[in-house]
Amino acid sequence: MTTLKPSGLTILGLETSCDETAASVVRRDEDGSVSVLSSIIGTQFEQHAPFGGVVPELAARAHVESIDAIAAEAMRSAGLGFEELDGVAATAGPGLVGGVMVGLAFGKAVSLARGVPLVAVNHLEGHAVSARLGADVGYPFLLLLVSGGHCQLLEVAGVGACKRLGTTIDDAAGEAFDKIGKSLGLPYPGGPALEKLAVGGNPDRYPLPRALLGRKDCDFSFSGLKTAAARIAETLTADDERRDLAAGVQAAIARQLSERVDRAMKLYKESHEPGDLRFVVAGGVAANGAVRAALLANCEKNDFSFAAPPLAYCTDNAAMIALAGAERLALGISDDLDAVARPRWPLDEAAALANPANAYGRKGAKA
Ligand code: KG4
Ligand code: ZN
Repeated sequence: MTTLKPSGLTILGLETSCDETAASVVRRDEDGSVSVLSSIIGTQFEQHAPFGGVVPELAARAHVESIDAIAAEAMRSAGLGFEELDGVAATAGPGLVGGVMVGLAFGKAVSLARGVPLVAVNHLEGHAVSARLGADVGYPFLLLLVSGGHCQLLEVAGVGACKRLGTTIDDAAGEAFDKIGKSLGLPYPGGPALEKLAVGGNPDRYPLPRALLGRKDCDFSFSGLKTAAARIAETLTADDERRDLAAGVQAAIARQLSERVDRAMKLYKESHEPGDLRFVVAGGVAANGAVRAALLANCEKNDFSFAAPPLAYCTDNAAMIALAGAERLALGISDDLDAVARPRWPLDEAAALANPANAYGRKGAKA
């Protein structure tokens, strides 16, 4: 592998772990400042829409068909040639493994052909650093990762150093939005559609369950809410009823996230200095206005600073993968060309090993 340039790093990032084929060029200067030179995202909504969810085989094929063009577009729009890269970072998991293999193989090809280091990036580490694409957020911080596949609270001490405080025992928050959206007849992905439907709705019209109320831990559960909302949705006929149920569901999800974050903030405070009280929310659900407002209130109440990625970097993108790669490369960490694609890859490997039943961010039947 080539030696690293001391004066900043220009990295190509690749993301193919779900239904977005994305490539981005990010520059990280020596002082840690970050600029996104390009970020191209090709979505596969149309291919998956008829099925109401992502079909892994279709996703993998679509990634193969578009990765070349999307990576070329990212380089063109950054105004750079491949010879100007200092490294390439590709998502190596967790995710739909057929898709992960496509981006990782492309990254290996760039690494081999151009003699630049490869970084095999954990997709969740990408989300964890994504707030740094818009603001100078220092370590350590308390992270709420809320996406379609994950709902976790983590203490992040530094690059690759995460300790999990809580996780979901059934569905992820984004999954709950998507499934309840489906019950309400909304298109996939349900989260953004449900947020639109909820505008102006009365969140108190329908009684909805509050999960794990008596527990003192930081775990989440959304399956009770999903079942209750689906039952109510079946009985609705008028538009204002659907709007009010959407508002109630959104408020219930925001409230649960906020309650657990409150507990996690108290725990985090026990082992951190006042100057280290930073809160970051990342993942697709961080795009939701009601969720953000609830979390902002948590921060005000507990004296934490608040950071969330710019909206464009909340959902899956390759800029966050490029930045996670750049942070690792800046510390001299890279991977060999035999790096494997991993369908499962917990951020807090220690917590996963200690309790295999909830290794991957879920506990219970679906773990
Ligand atoms: O991070 P992401 O793009 O992919 C995963 O790694 O899962 O998150 C996608 C998830 C989907 O479940 C989607 O419904 C949800 O984020 N989402 C939202 C909003 N925008 C995206 N949920 C609620 N409100 C939104 N505005
Ligand atoms: Zn994601």
